[in-house]
Amino acid sequence: MEVNPNKSIGEIAVEYDDAIELFEKRDINYAFGGRQTLQDACEQAGVPLPEIISALGNMKNFNPGERALDWSDRSMGVIIDHIVKRQHAYLRLRLAFFCKKSSELAKAPGEVDPSVVQLNKTLLDIAEHLEEHMKEEEEVVFPYLKEMELATEQGINRSNRYRELAVPQHPIAKLTWKHEVMWDQWVTLRKLTNDYQAPAGANPDFVALCRGLKEFQEIFQEHGHLEDNILFRKAVEKGFLD
Ligand SMILES: [Fe+2]
Ligand SMILES: [Fe+2]
Repeated sequence: MEVNPNKSIGEIAVEYDDAIELFEKRDINYAFGGRQTLQDACEQAGVPLPEIISALGNMKNFNPGERALDWSDRSMGVIIDHIVKRQHAYLRLRLAFFCKKSSELAKAPGEVDPSVVQLNKTLLDIAEHLEEHMKEEEEVVFPYLKEMELATEQGINRSNRYRELAVPQHPIAKLTWKHEVMWDQWVTLRKLTNDYQAPAGANPDFVALCRGLKEFQEIFQEHGHLEDNILFRKAVEKGFLD
């Protein structure tokens, strides 16, 4: 199967069963933004494009992946409920815990590693950005998408309220841009924790924090993928958010 390097990384992540595993292994961002081409995403990650094209070309299962298939087939309302009740709830809960733990570590008596202070700062920053972002999704964009979907099911013609908006105000542009910013912050955080590897003899709380952050990344990526590559794409295809 010929792989087009100009196709978006998000589309490829949805189309190939094993692509997500490959992208995660090679640290290629497929989940946040999702609109960059395969070529650009490889370049950003510093991974040779031919290597990825060859790996994708060897994948036999050119079918929507299981995770993606589950969601691609569902209504936007069902996807949104899952995002809010499961993913947003999880992200809020865990981030609050990480902020609390890292603040305690940063303020511990004695000499504190500067990277711990920086980690705490980055986590507080991510939590603030993410809260503001999820609020906008939950209060503005998601209710609008549900309303549009319902109207379409009932045969009512509603106009796309965002059609005339310029890029900076357009929700898709704004939300996907925020996703990219948050992913960049997360990459910084990974570097600060040396890829979640606490040094030998580190404070057990720091070890637990690193472990928690590693688990969090998986859900965080799944979340970005579900929004950017599945929900928002669906909304664009239906003409609700083009
Ligand atoms: Fe979200
Ligand atoms: Fe989001």
